[in-house]
Amino acid sequence: MTITEFQRHKREKKKLIVVTAYDALFTRILEQAGIETILVGDSLGVVVQGKANTLSVTMEDMLYHTKLVAGAAQRALVIGDMPFMSYQISREDALRNAGRFLQAGAQAVKLEGGAAVADQVAAMTGIGIPVMGHLGMTPQSVHRYGGYKVQGKESDRALALLNDAKVLEAAGAFGIVLEAIPAELAKTVTEQVSIPTIGIGAGPHCDGQVLVLYDLLGLFDDFVPKFVKPYAHLKADALQALRRYKEEVEQGKFPSDSESYH
Ligand code: KIV
Repeated sequence: MTITEFQRHKREKKKLIVVTAYDALFTRILEQAGIETILVGDSLGVVVQGKANTLSVTMEDMLYHTKLVAGAAQRALVIGDMPFMSYQISREDALRNAGRFLQAGAQAVKLEGGAAVADQVAAMTGIGIPVMGHLGMTPQSVHRYGGYKVQGKESDRALALLNDAKVLEAAGAFGIVLEAIPAELAKTVTEQVSIPTIGIGAGPHCDGQVLVLYDLLGLFDDFVPKFVKPYAHLKADALQALRRYKEEVEQGKFPSDSESYH
């Protein structure tokens, strides 16, 4: 998947499928399943590092996981998620840090915000770094929202979000993640911008969908938002396997002769 192909999907009305990954093992599994776009999300702060939110994730953390994913990916478009405070302060910071993602093997970066980060987005796209925007319930602003709450329900907030989407498009973003906003607003944004919209909790009308891998697989259940659909129950499977292993070792059933050398 290239940026050009990614954008062509919208024109050809083909849904874009995006899943997060943080390591080589799952990157290979995602590609075997035909997933063509992989986001190395800063959600790793929550699902891998066990933190309450994404705010403590560092550039070093992100670059480490981006290298693992990019090193294993053979066909997928790999997008690196810019962590909190890696792009907000200045254009220089944004350019330098975005460049580090590309040096780590990502083909594009994602950042949160609209008009407030338009300068940074224009600077990055101006020197050839593909940028994906992220609007709606942007997790790096969780404290401003007072929790993980649906955004854009009031008409003034909805109009502001639509304007942010147009600003990102004008700044050269190649796509926009829309998170936790009303489906009707996501539909309007999708119709009014020429770049693909990728929904997560934004209803069925976006050009594509993204889910956090561990949510999708039913591995992470500390907090399951309404928009998550677990397609497997791997936590339950893992618990069952681990309990059986413990039981069999305790009872002397494992290892048996077939797992022993002679
Ligand atoms: O960090 C992440 O995984 C994300 C997706 C939820 C879009 O930003």
